[in-house]
Amino acid sequence: MTRLLFYSAKIYDRKSFDQVLEGRDDIQVDYIDHELEPRTATLAEGYDAVCAFVNADVGSETLEIFAKEGVKVVLMRCAGFNNVDTKKAAELGIVVKRVPSYSPESVAELAMALALAVNRRVYKAYNKVRENDYTLTGLRGTLMHGKTAGIVGTGKIGAAMCRICRGFGMNIIAYDKYENADLKDFVTYVSFDELLAKSDLISLHCPLMDDTYHMINIETIKKMKDGVILINTSRGALIDTDELVEGIRMNKFFGVGLDVYEEEAGNLYVDHSDDIMAHSVTARLLSFPNVMITSHQGFYTVEALQAIAETTLQNLTDAMEGRKTPNDVA
Ligand code: NAI
Repeated sequence: MTRLLFYSAKIYDRKSFDQVLEGRDDIQVDYIDHELEPRTATLAEGYDAVCAFVNADVGSETLEIFAKEGVKVVLMRCAGFNNVDTKKAAELGIVVKRVPSYSPESVAELAMALALAVNRRVYKAYNKVRENDYTLTGLRGTLMHGKTAGIVGTGKIGAAMCRICRGFGMNIIAYDKYENADLKDFVTYVSFDELLAKSDLISLHCPLMDDTYHMINIETIKKMKDGVILINTSRGALIDTDELVEGIRMNKFFGVGLDVYEEEAGNLYVDHSDDIMAHSVTARLLSFPNVMITSHQGFYTVEALQAIAETTLQNLTDAMEGRKTPNDVA
């Protein structure tokens, strides 16, 4: 029997994992609400494996505790693993696996939903009509058709976003370290600077790494067209939030849509509606009429949740049977 401790479990996690686990008595899963961090890592005593999500702290301290408690496998139920100290895990002999792909269209569709919502101020329109206000003040948008979409990172999600933009009749340019051959018929690769200068819509789809950290900062913002729409559904720290605020105040952006942002760790997935936020960049961003923030929900579709559960449990079986697979990050 393999024992798995499932951190920061939400109702929808339980539902999708229990569905895939139906009829399997070789795995026992215990779901807990707590986020994984050094303080909660000791709860994994006696477990073979743990399962964690995007904002867990899987740094060296957590991993040292796991090594002491006998945890052999860390299953990330997400694609990104910037929050895992993979070097330390390898040193300690802890296997870390992730779900590199699960319905990339789920994230790309949210990216386009944010682009459309900020462009046509859908969030404002919704509230105005609910308040019996049928005026159009503050709702004027711009056309997507015929405009230029600049896609940063053309892996699985970026490629899906390119296909969606093509459907909207946009010209598509992209920047990536590696060109995606599947896109060559309708995507033109350009330098990052050229993408910044030419795009009407910029959508970020590259991973967070040393060379992508704060790739959107005041210098790169100044290189963008006035009236650009910026969308980030990848990782918050691709954007320097303070400098984004500066750019918004310079009137650089027609709209900004963020599914991820630097301060999200303390917010996901908590109801803070009754709390007074002491120092909140989120609150400052939300004060702008052309900014829309969602709470890291790109992955949140029926199809993606099922795919995540299936791959994570397959990862567990592979790890317990000592199989190395492309899903290994350590
Ligand atoms: P992927 O690995 O298929 O594609 C990433 C692309 O970024 C690759 O083509 C790679 O060459 C490119 N890249 C790497 N370094 C770059 C750089 N310095 N500049 C430009 N491009 C660079 O990954 P996938 O599946 O498309 O995911 C992209 C990101 O989306 C993930 O890293 C993750 O952070 C984020 N994500 C967000 C979700 C959400 O719920 N909002 C859900 C899933 C993923």
